[in-house]
Amino acid sequence: MALPPNFLDELRARTPIGALIGRSVKLTRSGRETKGCCPFHGEKTPSFYVYDDHFHCFGCGEHGDVITFVMKSANLGFMEAVETLAAEAGLEVPKASPREAERAEAIAGITEVLEAASRLYERWLYEPEGRPALDYLKARGLSDETIAKFRLGWSGEGRGQLAAALRGQNIKPEQLIAAGLMKQGERGPVDMFFSRVMFPIADRRGGLISFGGRIMGDGQPKYVNGPETEIFSKRRALYGLHFARDAVRKNAALVVVEGYMDVIALAQAGFAGAVAPLGTALTDEHLAAIWRLSPAPVICFDADNAGRRAALKTVDLALSALAPDRSLKFLSLPEQDDPDSLIRREGRAAFAERLETARPISTALYDMLAEGVVRTTPEARASFRNRLVETAARIPDKSLAGEYRAMLLERFFMERRARARPGEATPKRAPPAAPRARVNPSLPDAIRGFILTAACIAAPPLFPDIEEAFARLVLPESCAKLRDALALYVSGEKTLDIDSLFTHLHGLGLAEMGRQVVAVAAEHYRPGPDLSLSEVAEDWWRWYHLMAVNIDLLRAQRDHDQQYWIANPTDEAASARLIRSNELLRQAITGDYGEDVV
Ligand code: UTP
Ligand code: MN
Repeated sequence: MALPPNFLDELRARTPIGALIGRSVKLTRSGRETKGCCPFHGEKTPSFYVYDDHFHCFGCGEHGDVITFVMKSANLGFMEAVETLAAEAGLEVPKASPREAERAEAIAGITEVLEAASRLYERWLYEPEGRPALDYLKARGLSDETIAKFRLGWSGEGRGQLAAALRGQNIKPEQLIAAGLMKQGERGPVDMFFSRVMFPIADRRGGLISFGGRIMGDGQPKYVNGPETEIFSKRRALYGLHFARDAVRKNAALVVVEGYMDVIALAQAGFAGAVAPLGTALTDEHLAAIWRLSPAPVICFDADNAGRRAALKTVDLALSALAPDRSLKFLSLPEQDDPDSLIRREGRAAFAERLETARPISTALYDMLAEGVVRTTPEARASFRNRLVETAARIPDKSLAGEYRAMLLERFFMERRARARPGEATPKRAPPAAPRARVNPSLPDAIRGFILTAACIAAPPLFPDIEEAFARLVLPESCAKLRDALALYVSGEKTLDIDSLFTHLHGLGLAEMGRQVVAVAAEHYRPGPDLSLSEVAEDWWRWYHLMAVNIDLLRAQRDHDQQYWIANPTDEAASARLIRSNELLRQAITGDYGEDVV
C-alpha cells in the first residue's frame, strides 16, 4: 500500500530514534556521538552509531531510519512496522484511496525515470559527443570530482535520442512527459532538453525531481528548467538542498545564492552549504525550508539590479515570519559579481572573510528602505519614518517588533542629527537634578509608559524635544499608538496645543484612548497646573531614565553598532555611531549626563 510521503515524515519526526533504539540497545553518549553494540551482529566493542534521523553500524553495515530499525529488529514487514510506530506515536495510518495509490505509484515511476535519464546524461558527457560540454564545464573551472558529485551531464542532441536510449529499459515517452523530460508536440512527444549541459535537481533527501539545462556559451534561453510535475514544484525546490543539509549539520554556513553555477562553485571551494532557487524569487516555502536548517542563513544574491530587487523581495517576505530564532543575513558582493565569478577571482579565503561581514537583516532592512529615498524636507522625513514604523510593525513577534522599531528609529534619528547639524555638538536637554517627590521610582515600566505619554498629551510642545528618546522605548500598545499619532501631529501642525491635538486624535479615532491614558497616568503622577514647560520636561526625563528597558535598548543598539563597525572598519559614520551609542549607554548606566546633557 502507498502512504503519502508527508505521513512518513510526520511519523519519523514523532519517533525519536535514540529513545526507540535505546529500549533494546544500551547506548552511550560521548560528545556528539551516540553509540552502542550492534543488535544485528555479535560484537563486544560498540560500532553501532545512532544519529538524528538514522543509525549505522560500521561493523556489519546495517543502516536505516526508525522504520527500518523496527522492521529489522522485530522482523516485521514495512506496513507492520509503520502500524506499530504509528500506534505508539498516536497517529492514524491513512487509508490509501485508489487514487492516492495511483499517485504514489506515478511518483515512484517518475523518480525511476529521472534516475535512468540522469545516468545516461552523465555517461554521454564523457563520451565523444559530450566532449564540447565537458570542455565547457572544465573551462568554467569544475573538476571531475565536482562534475561527478553534482552528477552533471550532457543532454544529447534531441530528436528523441533520450526516448530511444531508454526504450530498452521499458520506459515509454508518456513516462518521459510525466517526468518533465519531454513535452507533447504537434507531431508526438518532443525533447524538453537538447544540446544542453544537464544539472539534476534533487529533493532534500537527494532523490531526483527534475533537471535544469544550460546552453553552452551565449544564446537564449540560457537555462531551461523542467516543468512542474507531480514531484517538482519550483515554489519548493532548492538546488543543492540535500548537500547543504549535510554540510550545515556539520556547521557549514547556509548560503542562498541565485544560480546553479554559484552553488557548484561555492561547494567546490569548500562552502558546501549553498542552495539556490530555480530562477524564481524566494518563496515562503523556501524560507521555511532553509530555516529548518539554520536560524540565520546568508542571502547572497548577484550585485546587479535584479539581485538587489530579489534581496528586497526576500526581506519583504521574511519580515512577516521573523522570530528570534528565524532571521536572515545579507551579503553584498562587488558590482558585476556573482558568487561564482568572485570565488574564481578572489579565492576561497577572501570569500570566507566576506561571509563574516554579512549584515543582519535589521541593518540591511534600514539600508534598503533608505536607499534612494530623499530626506531633505520634513514631509519626506516624516513619511520615511512612518515607513520604518510600519515596517517594524509587520513583524509578528511582539517583542522582536519592538526591538526593530527601536533600532530603526534610533538610526533614523542619528542620521537626521548628523545631517541637520554636521559637526555640531548634541542638542541640549534638561539635566536630571536630584529626584523630586513628584517622581516615584518604584512604579512598573508600563505605568511609566502611561505617564510619559500622558505628559506629552498634556503639554504637546514638549514632544519635539523628547521625541527621539521616546521613540526608543517599548511602550504598552495604546501608548505606542498615541506616540505615533503625536509624531504625526507634531510634524504637521504649526501651533501645538491640547485642543488641536485632540482634534487630530479624534480624526484618527484615538481621542478616547488619549483620555484614558491621561486618566491612568493621573493616578500616579500629578504635576500640578502651575508647572512650567521646562519643569514638565525635567520630570519627563526623570521618568524616562527610570525605565530599565531603556538601558537594555541602548545596549542592544550598542551591540548592533559594534557588530556593524567591526564588519565595516573603514566606515566613518559607523564608527561615529558606535562612539555615540557607547556614550549613551554609559550615561544611562551611570546616570552621569555631564554638563552638555544628551
Ligand atoms: P544567472 O544567469 O545568474 O545564473 O541566473 P548563473 O548560474 O550565474 O549562470 P552562469 O551559468 O554563471 O551564466 C540565475 C538562475 O536563474 C535561472 C537559473 O536557475 C539560474 O541558475 N535562470 C537564468 C533561468 O531559469 N533561465 C535563464 O534563462 C536564466
Ligand atoms: Mn554566473
